[in-house]
Amino acid sequence: MAVRVASSMVLATMAIIGALLAASVPYVGGEDCNFSSSCEDMDYDSGYLTATCKNWKGYRLQTKLYLNNAVKNNDGNLECPRWGGGFLSTCTDISVDGATLTATCTNDDGDSVQSSVNLDNCIKNDNASLYWCGIFSATSDII
Ligand SMILES: *[C@@H]1O[C@H](CO)[C@@H](O)[C@H](O)[C@H]1NC(C)=O
Ligand SMILES: *[C@@H]1O[C@H](CO)[C@@H](O)[C@H](O)[C@H]1NC(C)=O
Repeated sequence: MAVRVASSMVLATMAIIGALLAASVPYVGGEDCNFSSSCEDMDYDSGYLTATCKNWKGYRLQTKLYLNNAVKNNDGNLECPRWGGGFLSTCTDISVDGATLTATCTNDDGDSVQSSVNLDNCIKNDNASLYWCGIFSATSDII
């Protein structure tokens, strides 16, 4: 019993520290973020970026990443990565061409404007899995 309580307190403490770190750690982009240099067949499918990416041995595997987690509509401009993402609720006509995500998004005046963002600045391929650049934002699903 005591051990269970203690370990759940440790977990809760770790969760709090994790949340604090996540909130304070800035976006770390850069050299690892150019997923398109080792991926091909990029496409958009129901909220996901899909791609065929090379693993450590050079084999190509299909993978996908849920874009809504880190792509944000900021007054009609697509940005990434951003905590809280959520662009899907205010953007339509979404497409992916290579590393470029394009969508028509509602700006603060309520107008629909087309915007693009270069996903190479915010997504990396690590061993045929796609991740958001930045320490605490890893999410990936192998199809
Ligand atoms: C881009 O990706 C390649 C292959 O994964 C890597 O070797 C290179 O360092 C990266 N370059 C930049 C500028 O990110
Ligand atoms: C890459 O992933 C495979 C499993 O798909 C694993 O066996 C291998 O150890 C990984 N290699 C590296 C360098 O992470």
